[in-house]
Amino acid sequence: MADRPRLTTTAGAPVSSNQNAKTVGRHGPVLLEDFQLIEKLAHQNRERVPERVVHAKGWGAYGTLNVTEDVSRYTRAKVLQPGTKTEMFARFSTVAGEQGAADAERDVRGFSLKFYTEEGNWDLVGNNTPVFFVADPYKFPDFIHTQKRHPRTNLRSATAMWDFWSLCPESLHQVTILMSDRGIPTDPSRMNGYGSHTFSLWNDQGERFWVKFHFKTRQGHAHFVNEEAEKVIAKSRESYQEALYGMIEDGRFPKWDMFIQVMPEDEAAAFEEKTGWSAFDLTKVWPHGMYPLIKVGEMELNRNPENYFVEVEQSAFNPSNVVPGIGFSPDRMLQGRLFSYPDAHRYRIGTHYDALAVNKPRSPVAHYHMGGEMTLGLATNPDAYYEPNSFGGPVEDPSVEEPPHRYAGDVARYDFRGTADHYSQPRALFELFDDGEKQRLFNNIAGAMQGVPQFIVDRQLAHFDKAHPDYGAGVRQAISVQTRDDAEASLSTSHSAAAE
Ligand code: NDP
Ligand code: HEM
Repeated sequence: MADRPRLTTTAGAPVSSNQNAKTVGRHGPVLLEDFQLIEKLAHQNRERVPERVVHAKGWGAYGTLNVTEDVSRYTRAKVLQPGTKTEMFARFSTVAGEQGAADAERDVRGFSLKFYTEEGNWDLVGNNTPVFFVADPYKFPDFIHTQKRHPRTNLRSATAMWDFWSLCPESLHQVTILMSDRGIPTDPSRMNGYGSHTFSLWNDQGERFWVKFHFKTRQGHAHFVNEEAEKVIAKSRESYQEALYGMIEDGRFPKWDMFIQVMPEDEAAAFEEKTGWSAFDLTKVWPHGMYPLIKVGEMELNRNPENYFVEVEQSAFNPSNVVPGIGFSPDRMLQGRLFSYPDAHRYRIGTHYDALAVNKPRSPVAHYHMGGEMTLGLATNPDAYYEPNSFGGPVEDPSVEEPPHRYAGDVARYDFRGTADHYSQPRALFELFDDGEKQRLFNNIAGAMQGVPQFIVDRQLAHFDKAHPDYGAGVRQAISVQTRDDAEASLSTSHSAAAE
């Protein structure tokens, strides 16, 4: 007792009992004046923040980005200069499941990185896939509705998913990845990460380059097939948490090689003319043959958080967190995300979410935002609370202004997806698969389509056919085998029921 700290209320007053409520007599009612009990119960009611509207289930760790190569001709970003080592935090996640969802479910994985650079936080909020299901921010809430629960049944709906996907052919590329082996990595260390969008880099000469970010696992890819994942989930719903936490506690630090693909600013139009794909279409990759991977450095995760809620749950990643030398692109999905994330954080965690330890930049922060919930600490210079001022408050630095973007055109709602080629890239991916991978793809799709109305299945099959005749034929075959197996299984069940 002597060497243990004294229990107090949140206001610091010592607490005499944390065991027995204050009552009138031995078995009498509890007094309202037992303010310690009231404080304890009230705090419990506030122990949760709303879960993320997507990517609710996640696993996090700290680490280091070590830039081993020289890419300074593309960017002035200090974090990307040769020899620079930067502390970072990573959060991996599934997209659709709630916080209690099982880790080993078939889903895209989030791959969020926060680099605490000397010029502020740079967040790369990517996935384990180089592309996404949709190419316009208008489609994101609808897409997510199809991944979450049906409003009446409160069950996930295969019909909704395939209805949406079959009506949005641009989703075929990502659907193919999701339904392939890579749809269930064994743990977060065994998958790649991608910034997915086209971003930009700019250098001291005012030149801009379009860029894609890639993180390739050094542990090698490893995936579960559906049957293996079902067995894992039957034993543990927390297999990713166990794996990531365990490997870092054991000193087996996971590593990724970081690469970029670089496109000179004025090449984007020619790329589209030549390939039929916009360089800013999130449903398409830049072929490596045209834009080879350029090594930047390596990322290692080497420290577990001390407190899951404080560090992982309260972490707030934001695609608009860029630093001088790194910028955006006209990718309209990226533009939509620049609004969405800080808005989500202010709702989910509170106004000053960036002041929480896991989000707090390691570089000096100086701004004129005042007050609001969670205002922490006192201003270091209380007279400089407006701008301009004569009292030494922070001032802007024009030297970090990025070079102007060359945009022009009539304002309208353009449907660039309507005319784009959505089939060649899924075809190229399909052709990369060996026979076993192809068969597992067919089986996974057939399984995921169970119970979906035939007209939706037919609409989706037409997309598979357009990508590759073997793709459509393989899925058709897998569906018919599955239908036959289901019929036989139900027949044998009804026979044995009749025999009893
Ligand atoms: P490449 O042959 O140069 O690249 C193929 C890429 O596909 C490699 O990055 C490889 O990643 C990845 N890959 C291999 N097997 C699978 C799989 N089963 N599921 C998902 N990805 C896999 O060809 P291209 O650059 O011309 O691209 C061809 C197709 O490859 C694209 O249409 C796209 O679907 C896919 N792809 C392309 C990427 C790109 O940025 N160009 C990135 C990832 C996929 P790894 O080294 O990790 O095995
Ligand atoms: C999380 C919106 C597209 C990756 C989120 C969150 C929102 C959101 C609101 C929850 C944030 C929070 O509460 O902390 C959107 C919108 C999109 C979009 C509006 C399209 C317009 C994408 C894309 C990717 C992506 C294309 C990947 C390339 C992630 C990841 C998280 C996330 C990884 C989890 C972040 C974390 O670990 O905390 N998204 N998203 N999202 N999103 Fe998106």
